[in-house]
Amino acid sequence: MKKVSLMVLSIMFLGLMITPLAIAEKAEDNYKLYCFQCHGSKGNGGGINAASLSTAPRDHTSATEMKKLSDDNIFTAIKEGGAAVSKSTFMPPWKSILTDAEIKDMVKHLHGLCKC
Ligand code: HEC
Repeated sequence: MKKVSLMVLSIMFLGLMITPLAIAEKAEDNYKLYCFQCHGSKGNGGGINAASLSTAPRDHTSATEMKKLSDDNIFTAIKEGGAAVSKSTFMPPWKSILTDAEIKDMVKHLHGLCKC
């Protein structure tokens, strides 16, 4: 009996450990899929499309730049696009592709990139 409950406990514990990792991976995957082209593979704004944009994509690795933005601002910029936060329309809206939960995870992922 004791063995069984120990096993159940360790499975639950494993589940708790795996969940945040899975989320982090998903935001990273979404970033690679949708953001790399402009924000770059390192997130520093040096994507393949950056040269042809008249406004440089945000450098997500810059703590100085990213600290100026609130989480709400970042969330709205991703969900509704640059125009919604009075920024460049080159930053597209992602609301038809990413769910609110995925955008929230993305905000966390960006904090990881700038370490801020
Ligand atoms: C077609 C190019 C392009 C793609 C793709 C793109 N962005 Fe952007 N993004 C931009 C540009 C350009 C800016 C700078 C806007 C400005 O400063 O006026 C920007 C700015 C931002 C900002 C800062 C907004 C602010 O208020 O300063 C965030 C956050 C952001 N992008 C997140 C993302 C995320 C997350 C993705 C992927 C889901 C993404 N971007 C995909 C071009 C792009």
